[in-house]
Amino acid sequence: MARKPLMAGNWKMNNTIAEAVVLTQEIANRLKRAWPDKADVVICPPFVDLKPARTVLEFDKTEVAVGAQDVYWEASGAYTGEISVPMLKEIGCEYCIVGHSERRTLFGETNEDVNRKVAALIAGGIAPIVCVGESLAVRDEGTTLEYVCAQVRAAFAGIEAADAAHAVVAYEPIWAIGTGRTATPEQAEEVCAAIRAELARLFGDEAAEGMRILYGGSMNPGNVEALLAQPDIDGGLVGGASLKAESFIQLVEACVR
Ligand code: PGA
Repeated sequence: MARKPLMAGNWKMNNTIAEAVVLTQEIANRLKRAWPDKADVVICPPFVDLKPARTVLEFDKTEVAVGAQDVYWEASGAYTGEISVPMLKEIGCEYCIVGHSERRTLFGETNEDVNRKVAALIAGGIAPIVCVGESLAVRDEGTTLEYVCAQVRAAFAGIEAADAAHAVVAYEPIWAIGTGRTATPEQAEEVCAAIRAELARLFGDEAAEGMRILYGGSMNPGNVEALLAQPDIDGGLVGGASLKAESFIQLVEACVR
């Protein structure tokens, strides 16, 4: 089954509203001229930038989607500092990153938290981009595939195949994030293929064949083609290279070549 590539920009904690509007405008202008209809594109700015970015994109009538970088699983209530699925939905978010390694390591997010967020997003009609990936210690131990597949099982515990269809998995080896040290295409493919096999065990072959698996970790215009050429890599989750319109557009263009 042919999967439509997805290029997702994870802005992390970068860009004030004013800066976000400028960057979104640049991306929209470039893509409006040559919309890559064979790929999906999403930018994931900080919460406060979501609405302004979405307004720019709507005004420009581009099909670039917006996504959040995190969410809380309850719909409303006494959860100071949190943001809910209905709030993201109202802004027009189509995607939400969940379980990014920075949230797991810096903010103590557990596999159980990730699972609750995935379930809440699916119930609310927002596609989760579920991040998994091993540390250097796990890779050196030789247990990467078991570790990553366990993260996948935990994230999707209790989710039905029909509901998982729009979910996205992003394989992001922690040692490759923001370090300039990319996984080789072979290393990335080995894990992405194992993730797809795990998804097939959970949801059946057909569902797994339709689900998109992204690679993330120092993806850039120089290495994107070799990564996307791998059979189980359907796009990218990109940090640093998504903060400049020029490099992000090059990554989008690589999806449709
Ligand atoms: P990077 O970040 O592209 O800057 O390595 C990727 C990510 O953390 O999603």
